[in-house]
Amino acid sequence: MLNFTKPLYPLLLSSVKSDPETAHRQMLKTLSNLEINRHSVWGNLAIKQLEKSFCIRDSRLQQTLWGLNFNNPFGLAAGFDKDGTAAGMWSSFGFGFAELGAVTLHSQSGNPRPRMFRLPEDKAALNRMGANNLGAAVMADTLAQTWRRQPRKIPIGINLCKSKIAALEEATADYVGSFQYLQDVADYFVINVSSPNTPGLRSLQGGEQLEPILSGLQTANTNSKPILIKIAPDLEWEDIKDILNLATSYNLSGVIATNTTISRDRLNTKILKETGKSIQDEAGGISGFPVKERSTEVIRFIYQETGGKLPIIGVGGIFNAEDAWAKIIAGASVLQVYTGWVYEGPWMVNNVLSGLLAKLDEKGLDNIKDAVGLEH
Ligand SMILES: Cc1cc2nc3c(=O)[nH]c(=O)nc-3n(C[C@H](O)[C@H](O)[C@H](O)COP(=O)(O)O)c2cc1C
Repeated sequence: MLNFTKPLYPLLLSSVKSDPETAHRQMLKTLSNLEINRHSVWGNLAIKQLEKSFCIRDSRLQQTLWGLNFNNPFGLAAGFDKDGTAAGMWSSFGFGFAELGAVTLHSQSGNPRPRMFRLPEDKAALNRMGANNLGAAVMADTLAQTWRRQPRKIPIGINLCKSKIAALEEATADYVGSFQYLQDVADYFVINVSSPNTPGLRSLQGGEQLEPILSGLQTANTNSKPILIKIAPDLEWEDIKDILNLATSYNLSGVIATNTTISRDRLNTKILKETGKSIQDEAGGISGFPVKERSTEVIRFIYQETGGKLPIIGVGGIFNAEDAWAKIIAGASVLQVYTGWVYEGPWMVNNVLSGLLAKLDEKGLDNIKDAVGLEH
């Protein structure tokens, strides 16, 4: 049944009349219901069917990073499952890992809707969600219940953001507060200081403001969980260098490159049809194809600057195996996707992983880790 619908997926996507956020919420609700019922006869059958359709297992794609076992290098990016309500389902879609959130210490409703838009002419999305989420305490409870039903099968990360109501000077306490609720229910953590949709947040990428956050989190990190930082594609090289220096000083485990861009330069879309306004005047971050090249450039730069010593999670504009390979040989150890998965459908993971295996054969490499930074 699932294979039968594959050619119809683009049509299905374009015919979804409800706004993308409503479709997204419905999907998460369905997955959450399925997960809660995973031990019923129908739940078990449905999950097995998903795994049969979407999962690939091959030891050449497997690697260990930060002591965590990644069955494959392709993960779900932050923002898709903000409250972790479908956290137990992402392994069944073939993902090698999944990042939940962004979560904030205080629950918040985000920006007014509509706030998520597809830009099909650009294979892109514009979003200004504003980190809507139920808060760290609720997520901790949701995840504890999920892992009681079924221990996690893939590494799970949590993307931490600052609550909108916390002043920038209170950022450290806010990040640390979320981390304290969540540190036992996930495998790695990400300091998100790069979302364009929380006022002032990206200014926290600057050294003076970033240092206390890194220091506070590492002091609270008594179980030595990997902590990474996620950066914007719009930073200057000098700013990235400063962040890398701090990452080394504070023993961060890696960098995620990149978040969405505030640039509108590469867009074919001129008017956002939902509002009738110029795309230049619409707030929010652009994801998908327009960030592909820049994100790969940033990955390449980080790899060069650190001599490949600081692991990179590469994200931005991946739609196929070629895109994934370009980021790996530029220096990304593992990858994430959001927009590409929406456009290409859930078969995408399988396609990307099969394509990466073909690349390994072509280059005579035994394991995906041998391809990391290959172009340097
Ligand atoms: C609707 C939407 C919500 C997002 N929310 C978050 C978020 O909460 N935290 C975060 O770090 N990144 C968030 N992102 C950014 C993605 O994780 C990713 O970095 C970016 O979209 C580039 O990847 P892509 O081109 O595969 O989408 C969001 C992206 C989209 C499209």
